[in-house]
Amino acid sequence: MAALGITIALLVWVATLLLISILKQIYSSWKLPPGPFPLPIIGNLLQLDLKNIPKSLTRLAEQYGPVFTVYLGSRRVVVMHGYKAVREVLLQHKNEFSGRGDIPVFHAHKDRGVIFNNGPTWKDIRRFSLSTLRDYGMGKQGNEQRIQREAHFLLEELGKTQGQPFDPTFLIGAAPCNVICDILFRKHFSYNDKTCQRLMYMFNENFYLLSTPWIQLYNNFSHYLRYLPGSHRRIMKNVSEIKQFALEQAKEHHMSLDPNCPRDFTDCLLTEMEKEKQSAEPMYTLDDVAVTLADLFFAGTETTSTTLRYGLLILMKYPEIEEKLHEEIDKVIGPSRIPAVKDRLEMPYMDAVVHEIQRFINLVPSNLPHEATRDTMFRGYVIPKGTVVIPTLDSLLYDEQEFPDPEKFKPEHFLNKDGKFKYSDYFKAFSAGKRVCVGEGLARMELFLFLSAILQHFNLKSLVDPKDIDLNPITIGFGSIPPHYKLCVTPRS
Ligand code: HEM
Repeated sequence: MAALGITIALLVWVATLLLISILKQIYSSWKLPPGPFPLPIIGNLLQLDLKNIPKSLTRLAEQYGPVFTVYLGSRRVVVMHGYKAVREVLLQHKNEFSGRGDIPVFHAHKDRGVIFNNGPTWKDIRRFSLSTLRDYGMGKQGNEQRIQREAHFLLEELGKTQGQPFDPTFLIGAAPCNVICDILFRKHFSYNDKTCQRLMYMFNENFYLLSTPWIQLYNNFSHYLRYLPGSHRRIMKNVSEIKQFALEQAKEHHMSLDPNCPRDFTDCLLTEMEKEKQSAEPMYTLDDVAVTLADLFFAGTETTSTTLRYGLLILMKYPEIEEKLHEEIDKVIGPSRIPAVKDRLEMPYMDAVVHEIQRFINLVPSNLPHEATRDTMFRGYVIPKGTVVIPTLDSLLYDEQEFPDPEKFKPEHFLNKDGKFKYSDYFKAFSAGKRVCVGEGLARMELFLFLSAILQHFNLKSLVDPKDIDLNPITIGFGSIPPHYKLCVTPRS
């Protein structure tokens, strides 16, 4: 009798807890944007194509409108789709949605550094990084000279291929890698340096794996999947090895640090760390310094490198566009002087091509996840603190009104009828607002200068008929990953 009583009491207790949890769920969803009904545990997984989540989100936006809710597993996510909603979230509600959504595969960097930091130190580390990058970007030894110097090395390496086919991944990638290395560590790698090759290999592998279906699944079900074998372990291993490299650089710098005469970004961070030691709540340990360096190193290399590599593939498919670029370069720069930033003003076609490459390749289609920092009223909905918010970038870059035939590569998307460069506020490849890309200025300069320098000296030659070049990404997730290919370059003179 007593056992029956206890069993009934337990059942009532469990039922009450369940009811409370359901009521809580209903209450917190009451004022959320609309969306498909989620199933327990898997959420809206059945409505999403893991091979192309950005496309699934576009499909859901057609059904539920520009602001909708989906559940990735048990994670509540509010998606913003289209110019107005994305702009509103990033620029009008910039503080409320400036948190960083959790990315489990990067837990080693969680709440440290810049990119994956959703903690109290993010604002200060970001501000410090931005102002230090700005200081190193300006003046005589600034980014323009840095990139021009690197362009010479790049051209030399390209010349060494002697018209033979080569894979551009690491040859082209070494240029942006060296630029950010110079800023961070005052270090220059030769193009066949083993450490440099290994680092670039890991950046490249991580960017690829992050965009595969398994990692989309892992990032939303990491509680269940973390003990299984799989490529998430490979990413974490790479993340740890990259951080270890940054830590060694930081330690080496620390030994010869002269706070009055910083040599590079690392010295500036270390000087800040030393100053902070006296304060009650120091922001930096050597480990935090390493995470910040690793963030900038990875983000500063792989994004620009992939854009350049994808860009060259596109130009091989459209030789008539390459030809027009050669003509503009010959007219404005000539054959011998290294391209300079000031040339951009007189090179609207190149400017338009670079923008169109970034628009077309749609490098980070769903942006990085943001997070609501407090309960926020948005268009009559209430988005609770802690909700992941995705201000999609592809919805702007592929807007049919702003960029007619968005699926086609057309530099005219950024040219007016007089052939002048046409600005578009829909061009948000670097996002906007409080979390806007820290390296936007540097990346833009690199893309313009490196591409101009390559085309000033070389013709691109595809190994297959240009018509047969497939520009579709091999996988889409975190990023859009270009197909592997080889090309030849032949000197123009
Ligand atoms: C073509 C090149 C690049 C593209 C398309 C790109 C794009 C982006 C995007 C979309 C974000 C997310 C913004 C958001 O959360 O709203 C981002 C963040 C970031 N990017 Fe870039 N990026 C590029 C190059 C660079 C470079 C060269 C650096 C380093 C100097 C860099 C450093 C960062 C950092 C540190 C963040 C995190 C900012 C934060 O969370 O506060 N990026 N980038």
